[in-house]
Amino acid sequence: MVDGVFSMDGDRADLKGLAALAEQYDAWLMVDDAHGFGVLGERGAGLCEAEELDTGQVPILMATLGKAVGVSGAFVAGSHALVETLIQRARSYIFTTAAPPALSAAVIKSLELIESEAWRRDKLQTLIAYLREQAQAKGIELMPSDTPIQPLVVGDNERARRISEALFEKGLLVPAIRPPTVPEGTARLRITLSAAHETGDIDRLLEALAPLLDATEDESPAT
Ligand SMILES: Cc1ncc(COP(=O)(O)O)c(C=O)c1O
Repeated sequence: MVDGVFSMDGDRADLKGLAALAEQYDAWLMVDDAHGFGVLGERGAGLCEAEELDTGQVPILMATLGKAVGVSGAFVAGSHALVETLIQRARSYIFTTAAPPALSAAVIKSLELIESEAWRRDKLQTLIAYLREQAQAKGIELMPSDTPIQPLVVGDNERARRISEALFEKGLLVPAIRPPTVPEGTARLRITLSAAHETGDIDRLLEALAPLLDATEDESPAT
């Protein structure tokens, strides 16, 4: 089981390598593509589509509906036998009220938009490239990532929290992610782009960020 796009680093799993391993050991590969679904692949079907993997190589694909799909919930896609087994046996399903039809209608519409309006994905890629380029020009070193999750490791927990709060006061939502969500000493600002952003938003972020990073540079490490 593996994330497609890792939620706190923004990098991608080596799905091809994992699929080959799974085949070698006659195992099933399950991918949680919460952060790839809707964002990667020609049609937005996620990392499996981008890596050209089929249902034989990835027999269990799940993704959430609360990110690119824009509502809430999640899905598991797989063989009829797998889905039927989950419906009959998954403890979290039994005695739980089904998702309402309105949610299904919203999901169907979202899927139509994801599939037919590739411009959002194209725009995201343009924004990602712009952010990375502009950050580099300002000497701000982002983690290696080509997805909308663009973390900036600041190391110290308190420093991350303070910068995040200062950004929030300027109307910029950049959460500070700290251990145990990420390893000790790698507290970070989790910059996340969406297709609703514009390059001007990125300029605003970097203009606000650069002096905050400088001002907090010499802080002592977190306790
Ligand atoms: C990889 C991954 N899977 C699942 C989830 C859970 O999503 P939800 O909030 O829709 O339950 C998250 C949340 O960020 C996630 O990063």
